[in-house]
Amino acid sequence: MKARQVGSESAREAADRRSIYTSHFNEQALKGRKVGEVSIFDTTLRDGEQTPGVALSMQEKLRIAELLDELGVHVVEAGFPATSEGEREAIKAIAALGLDTEVCGLARSNTADIDAALSCGVDYVHTFIATSDIHLEHKLKMTREQVMERAVAAIEYAKDHGVRVEFSCEDATRTDISFLKEMHIAVQDAGVDVINVPDTVGVISPEAMEMLIGELLTVTKVPISVHCHDDLGLAVANTITAIRAGAKQAHVCVNGLGERAGNAALEEVAMDLLAFYGVEPLVMSKIGGTCKAVSRITGYPIPNNKAIVGNNAFAHESGIHVHGVMGHASTYEAFGPELVGMSRAIVMGKHSGAHSVRDKLKELRLDISEEHIPEIVSRIKELAESGKQVDDAELTALADHIASRGDREQRVKLKEFAVFTGKGITPTATVTIEIDGESNTVSQVGVGPVDASLRALRAAVDENLVLEEYRLSAITGGSDSLAEVTVLLRDSNGTGRLYVGKGIGSDIVQTSVDATVEAINRQYSMIEKGVSE
Ligand code: KIV
Ligand code: ZN
Repeated sequence: MKARQVGSESAREAADRRSIYTSHFNEQALKGRKVGEVSIFDTTLRDGEQTPGVALSMQEKLRIAELLDELGVHVVEAGFPATSEGEREAIKAIAALGLDTEVCGLARSNTADIDAALSCGVDYVHTFIATSDIHLEHKLKMTREQVMERAVAAIEYAKDHGVRVEFSCEDATRTDISFLKEMHIAVQDAGVDVINVPDTVGVISPEAMEMLIGELLTVTKVPISVHCHDDLGLAVANTITAIRAGAKQAHVCVNGLGERAGNAALEEVAMDLLAFYGVEPLVMSKIGGTCKAVSRITGYPIPNNKAIVGNNAFAHESGIHVHGVMGHASTYEAFGPELVGMSRAIVMGKHSGAHSVRDKLKELRLDISEEHIPEIVSRIKELAESGKQVDDAELTALADHIASRGDREQRVKLKEFAVFTGKGITPTATVTIEIDGESNTVSQVGVGPVDASLRALRAAVDENLVLEEYRLSAITGGSDSLAEVTVLLRDSNGTGRLYVGKGIGSDIVQTSVDATVEAINRQYSMIEKGVSE
């Protein structure tokens, strides 16, 4: 097995040096059991491309192969050459890139498939045949003897062509153990280099995987590899268990792509090997970028709560958590995000408290005085109640807005506001305004709900206030972004002076009304100071 180990050290040393905060019970449970070098066999371009909905062009496959090479994977399974001419062209192109990683092609146990793989110029052939009675009876309609003969012949044929050969007993985890061992002995005698143990349907438990690898090691002299599917959510656990039991290679897919529920996720296997065994099989800092790039290229999104590389993997929202993480990251993180090229995010939502808001403002280098913190917190909670999380740009705008408004007295207060609109209905707004404690309710129609609302406001306060300018923008540009509305009112009766007001919120009409009320209050504070006289 070609070793491209980036480095290896004890779990404790790695933990100290790399900000890994895993449980001390791990070492106690492992009782000093060590794991040597582990080879990472990536099958994103083969099993991963079998993910429903994923189909890659030649250029996309080439890019992913390059990314995997930069990440330091030891073998890239570039595809299944017998599938089509297009598949062969892509594998040929990858093999011709001259990557450090070995480039492998998958082949069934027959000469046509192996020839197809060899025609692509790969240096590694992965051949397989099913060995479970279920597959023999319902799929292959072959006897165990016929299956063994086919496997041996295929391996001898491929070895005669000078390539490295890996063999898989498909559905190994549902194969009779005596036959499985006989297969391992036979393919070993045929000259195979690596024997892979696929949990094809994701049906084995970690305990059984440990037992199975132990059994197979009694007869297997070449390195054992594992290939685990995630049908019962145990692909990564089974892969790690197999490695601890003595397997030397892990088949993985970036982002856990793969047939049905997917394969063991590359990023999780790599991080677990480092966290629990101090084995660092890849260039860890490139993991986040690689996973994101593969997600972009395949069009297959990374779930927000995905371990290691999900958007929320290092996001902290609750006030208690944020406060803890600010004190020391170990309080609520298993390891530092920078280790895998990710970054920490403090998210503002309904669990955010003054601590998190203060820390976040500091991080954004916003100098907001303490008196404004309660209002900022309550606006964030209010927005969160309607399902809106506030991102950095929005928090900056909101905090700036609240702070710049300062403690200006609000002589004009919006008490009630309703707008009625729809298809075939004239937009009508009703506002109740209180000026120095005196209420006034007015209804107006307009060309749209914003127009009707602003007309009603002006009618309730002062008809001489003319709307000079109205600007609406989405703070982050997204369709779920907070809106920022700026209105400019001109006093057409008095000095012609302009009054600006700004509003920030998730509802455009309400935000427009808030901005207008703010502009009106500016006018009133000027009147108070006698400026407009
Ligand atoms: O899941 C599986 O058994 C496979 C084989 C081709 C190894 O993908
Ligand atoms: Zn598979």
